Amino acid sequence: MPAKLILGTEIREQILDEITKEVAEIKAKHGVVPGLVTILIGENPASISYVTLKIQTAHRVGFKEVQDSQPIDISEKDLLALIDKYNKDDSINGILVQLPLPKHINEKKVLNAIDPDKDVDGFHPVNVGRLMIGGSEVKYPPCTPAGIQELIVRSGVVTKGAEVVVVGRSNIVGKPIANMMLQKGPGANSTVTIVHTGTKDMASHCKRADILIVAAGVPDLVKPEWIKPGACVIDVGVNRVGEKVSEKTGKKIAILKGDVDFEAAKAIAGFITPVPGGVGPMTITMLMKNTLKSLKFKLGIA
Ligand code: GUN
Repeated sequence: MPAKLILGTEIREQILDEITKEVAEIKAKHGVVPGLVTILIGENPASISYVTLKIQTAHRVGFKEVQDSQPIDISEKDLLALIDKYNKDDSINGILVQLPLPKHINEKKVLNAIDPDKDVDGFHPVNVGRLMIGGSEVKYPPCTPAGIQELIVRSGVVTKGAEVVVVGRSNIVGKPIANMMLQKGPGANSTVTIVHTGTKDMASHCKRADILIVAAGVPDLVKPEWIKPGACVIDVGVNRVGEKVSEKTGKKIAILKGDVDFEAAKAIAGFITPVPGGVGPMTITMLMKNTLKSLKFKLGIA
């Protein structure tokens, strides 16, 4: 039997509807809505399209949304002053500085300047530490790993006692999702292995996985024979392998491929995410969830 598709496009709609409802309830009861600012430096086309989507989604769920675009030559000092302004702004609950930043700006310094209580990306070391401790310490899980966990849980995949193998050790996906899946509690409590470029025999580890999470950035890295029959396969890869003309808009669009050989893998896996339409739509969705959470923390209702 072919694998059940885990569709981020569908699960996103459920979650955004839940957020919209909650925002309306909070507005009625407390007279406030969550505020999200996205700071975009320069005119990188991919960054512009991500930020546009973040702002459109924030608008859709009823947030106050602020798009703050700054020139590519903004100084580090001026950017830090801008962050400080939003740190002090009571109507803003979430601050997102779109990455990558231009070379003359120190990314670490910028991310560390965001108030950890408004760090809805979950990139500040304080929030990374909170995630590591787990439980009620966690405020803002980073958005892509949080989206992966939602996909697994909402698809009814059992995580307690499951063998989870994570391919890739990045700070924004591999390390945090491994950390989240090993915590005690619902949607986790798994036995976790991380494999990476230093691993001797990646295939042998992957073959043991009940849940295989692949975030390597290498198209078709995971072969069908690496997959345990019936496993849940989460493909985080978004690899641009060419261009095509969109049938809808007539414009050139990227051809995307995941890190898993999808066509072959779906005959073996029990569950699998497609690329695009799997993990991708979940990242912005979880950004909305974190921003709502930030307001709820402030109101003491989280
Ligand atoms: N650039 C690409 N993805 C992201 C993200 O999730 N957050 C931020 N801040 N920048 C990004």
